[in-house]
Amino acid sequence: MRIILLGAPGAGKGTVAKLLAEYDGSVQISTGDILRSAVKAGSELGKKAQGYMERGELVPDQLIMDIMETRLQEPDCKKGFILDGFPRTLPQAEALKGLLKKLNLTLDMVVNLDVPRDVILDRLTTRRTCSNPDCQEIYNIKTKPPAPDGTCTKCGSKVIQRDDETEEAISKRLQTYNEKTAPLIDYYKKEGLLLSITSTSSEEIVSSIKAALRT
Ligand code: AP5
Repeated sequence: MRIILLGAPGAGKGTVAKLLAEYDGSVQISTGDILRSAVKAGSELGKKAQGYMERGELVPDQLIMDIMETRLQEPDCKKGFILDGFPRTLPQAEALKGLLKKLNLTLDMVVNLDVPRDVILDRLTTRRTCSNPDCQEIYNIKTKPPAPDGTCTKCGSKVIQRDDETEEAISKRLQTYNEKTAPLIDYYKKEGLLLSITSTSSEEIVSSIKAALRT
């Protein structure tokens, strides 16, 4: 499959993307995960992105497009890809359109995960993430806790709370989403690619996406 997952911070994009990747071998590409790995590694990209991320702001479009132009041409993308957290602005969506045209690729659909704000706030304050950049498994202290000693059940690394999980950064991320990313819902509706799903169950969302891909 070649799909985009849209949705507010905490809507469950990462969780759904991981389930979809297990289903047919398409690769999950999360710009958030790529940036967090770069910050942890202290690379040039990480140094440029860190401040924006900690404040809950978006990283500049050009940095993201440079990452994605390279990433979408890597061999594992041949099986398909699930874009999680990209595009996030109208200029990124336009640039992606041009890039896909250049690579002679088409999108199957753009899925908007529509989750109530109170559920989102609760999820963001209770989320925990594996600190291993190659794993980044997502946990939730209420619904999917890590091992009792606070380690990842997949790779054994320490499970941590993200740096942008402070109350101030969460509120800024939600505001940024409303201003910059929510307009993409209309953009992709006009492109005839949008599937909007209102659900708080990841399994139900994955089933709806699989059904839509079959039609
Ligand atoms: P990014 O990592 O993309 O963060 P985000 O969009 O804020 O999304 P989240 O990862 O917070 O949430 P999610 O929807 O993936 O939810 P999850 O599955 O984890 O980006 C971080 C930062 O990087 C940005 O702020 C920006 O600075 C920068 N950035 C990234 N991409 C960029 C771009 N394209 N342009 C510019 N800047 C960019 O689930 C959340 C929690 O809920 C978890 O605990 C999970 O276990 C739980 N949960 C999920 N589903 C369910 C369910 N069905 N039932 C119960 N619990 C559930």
